[in-house]
Formats: sequence, structure tokens, C-alpha cells
Amino acid sequence: MTLWSGRFTGKLDAVAWLLNTSLPFDQRLAAQDVRGSIAWAGGLFKVGVLSETEHAAITNGLNQIAEEFSQNTFAFQESDEDIHTAVERRLGELIGAAAGKLHTGRSRNDQVATDFRLWMLDNLPLLAEAVTGLQTTLVAVAERNQTALMPGYTHLQRAQPVTLAHWLMSHFWSLERDKDRLADLRDRVAILPLGCGALAGTAFDIDREALTLSLGFDSPAQNSLDAVSDRDFAAEFLFCATMLGVHLSKLSEQMVLFTTAEFGFFELSDAYSTGSSLMPQKKNPDLFELSRGKAGTLLGLLTGMLATLKGLPSTYDKDLQEDKVPVFQAFDTLTMILPVLAGAIETMTVKPEKMLAAIDSAMLATDLADYLVRKGIPFREAHAAAGKSVRVAAEKGVSLDKLSMDEWQAIGRFESDVYNNFDPMESVKRRNATGGTSPDSVKKQINLAKSKI
Ligand code: ARG
Repeated sequence: MTLWSGRFTGKLDAVAWLLNTSLPFDQRLAAQDVRGSIAWAGGLFKVGVLSETEHAAITNGLNQIAEEFSQNTFAFQESDEDIHTAVERRLGELIGAAAGKLHTGRSRNDQVATDFRLWMLDNLPLLAEAVTGLQTTLVAVAERNQTALMPGYTHLQRAQPVTLAHWLMSHFWSLERDKDRLADLRDRVAILPLGCGALAGTAFDIDREALTLSLGFDSPAQNSLDAVSDRDFAAEFLFCATMLGVHLSKLSEQMVLFTTAEFGFFELSDAYSTGSSLMPQKKNPDLFELSRGKAGTLLGLLTGMLATLKGLPSTYDKDLQEDKVPVFQAFDTLTMILPVLAGAIETMTVKPEKMLAAIDSAMLATDLADYLVRKGIPFREAHAAAGKSVRVAAEKGVSLDKLSMDEWQAIGRFESDVYNNFDPMESVKRRNATGGTSPDSVKKQINLAKSKI
């Protein structure tokens, strides 16, 4: 039985039913649907639509239904069009005719928007927690590797030495922004549509402020037409999810590179790598590749959602039923990837000697220019001289630190202390201003990060 069959004599075509039903995915909103209904019953009782006995029967029935959902004993029927129908149908079985009063002054339009927002309020903290899990791992591995040096890259070309801790922490901060965004999104989720009816508002004098409080929202939606229509929060969630996915992709791309034989900076543990069905020697970083790949899927979910919203007039349109699957999919994807990445990074073996061997003396050319600057030479001139030394060394086929004193003097105003410039740790230590890669500076970063997790 649908909630709307009164006006009809015929039955919906079987395939059309499958297209129309949302139960396969909105049953995930079961707990929220029951909570919303308990709050609504309270509102109806206060305005006298429900007697005390009816209110008690409805509340008890809904609590029993909640119990059935949590015990996984709730029996859905094929005729349940959506989660709202299923709950109301079951309530009727449990308490009889009084169940028919629950939907007074309410529509599935304000109901589903409420359920979905409740679901998001419940689940945003879980996603944030999963992000914190990865951040915690990054900080822990950074703490263990505060003096391990590696090349820092720009354009994927060797640029300047950095510490592994600094590199790991770079990913901490992008995740921190993701958490900020999720926290900020909460304010726009916590606006209550319930009591807005189908579109024009409810004709019963419901205390929506009280409803707001009882459901843990911040304020009631101020315009009923907007309230049943607004899925900004779903689109915003998908943006936050995609941005997070892009950050995980960036981290994953580097993990894929750094675990190749060519880089060899890290080796993945067996628990987080996979093999090849053909090539016995292979140890593949599939999990990082999947994380990189899923960022593309997340972006598709976001653009799909925006494309759906773009064509709609205001108030409720059935297109809006398409809001839930992408949000659930994005949530499930991220809450699966995050602990896997954390586990993989936590258990990888760092190869400090490989990282150090990848630092060549040309990566200290900036330090060479800075050295001349400290002797009073303008940076532009110093840059040109250091650049020339790199060219001369390349032409001679030697590394920069192997040029002779005569060669240095032919290039520019270098003195015998020029050779002091080729210790990568000294280069790293000099970058001691806030945000720089020096161990002291990174230590401060780590401490600040720890205060945030
Ligand atoms: N299953 C619907 C959805 O997810 C519930 C709202 C249905 N409203 C309606 N007027 N048909 O959006």
C-alpha cells in the first residue's frame, strides 16, 4: 500500500515501481525517520491533534520500531515505497488506527529533508573522526622521522632538501582544512525543515522552535518553499568530500611514486600491498591507486548532484530523491579509504638512506646563492653565479661539491668556505622561520598539530 493510493484505482506498473521506490537506499535513514516522527508526534500532542493515549501509543510504537531497526529484525515489505511508508505501515500494525494520525500536518517533503539532515548531523563527526585517524598517523610517523632527509620536489624535479616529517605534516594541514570545512558545513545542515509541510507550511500551530531543540538542530527553516527544496547541504557535503578525496589522491600519488624501485623511499607492509597474478615479483600499491582513482569518482558525484539541482524549480521535485545515493557513496568511500591509508602509512618501512641518496648537491644551489647574499651580493647576481656553477659542474660531469677552488673563483665571488654549503641538514636547519622545514620548526608544527587532534 502506498501513502497516496486514495486518488487512484489502478496500480503502478511493476518496472515503474522499481524506478520510483527509494527504499533500497533510504532505509539507511531509518533511525532518523523514527526520531523525526517521535518529535513530530510530540508537536502534534502539544497542539491537541493527538490525545495523551494516542501520543503514548505512537511514541511506544516508534520506539519499538527503532528497536527492530537496531536489532535488524524490522521486516520490510515489497509494497513499502520508501522508509517513511515502511515506518508508518509498521506503526499501524503495532498500534492500529492511531498510527494514521502521525502524518497530520506533515509531508514526506519536509520529512525526508529532515531525516537526511539528521543523518548528516549524526555522520559528519564520524567522517571527521576518520580524518583525525589519518592525521594522527601522519603526526606519529612524522615524530619518528624528524631528522630523516629527503628531496623536496617542485614540478616533480628535485628542488630543495626537506625532512620526511615536514613532508608528512604537509598532508596533515590539508586534512585539517577538510575538517574545518566539515565543521563549518554543520551550521548549514542544522536548519530544520520539519513543520514546513509539503511546501506551504503546516496548518497546525506546531511549535517549530521546540521541535528544533528536541531534534538537536540550531534553528527552524524560515521559508517553507525553500526548506523542502534546499539540498545545498548535500552539494556542499559532496564538495567537502571531493576536496578531501583530492587531498587523499595527492598523498596517494606521492606514495605510489615513493614506493617505486626508482625512488624506493618507503616500502609498504604486506598488509597494505597487493601482488600480480602474472608477475611473481610484484608488490603493488593498489590501495593508494584506488584512493587516487576514487577521487575521480567523488568528483563525479559532486558534479552529478549539482547538475541535478541545476534544472529544478523551487520546492520539492522527485529529482531530489537522487540526493541520497551520492552522499552515502561519498561517505562510505571516504570512511573506507581513510583508515586504510592510515594503516598503510603507519606500517610502511622508511628507507632513510635511499631518501638521502636522492639528494644531490645541485639541490643546494639556493643555499649557494644565499651564501653569496650573506656576503653582500645582490640576490639576482648570486642566483646567476650559483646557476652558472650548476652548469659548469654539469658540463664537467661532476657534482657541484666537487668543483675545485679555481673553478669556483672563475665562476664568481666564492671563497674557500663555499664547501660548507653542501650539507643538506645544514640547509634544512637554516629554514627555521615558522612553516619551514628545520627540525625545530617542524617540532613546533607537530606540537600545534597535536593540540588539534
Ligand atoms: N522518497 C522521497 C525522497 O527521497 C521522499 C519524498 C517523497 N515526496 C513526494 N512528494 N513524493 O525524496
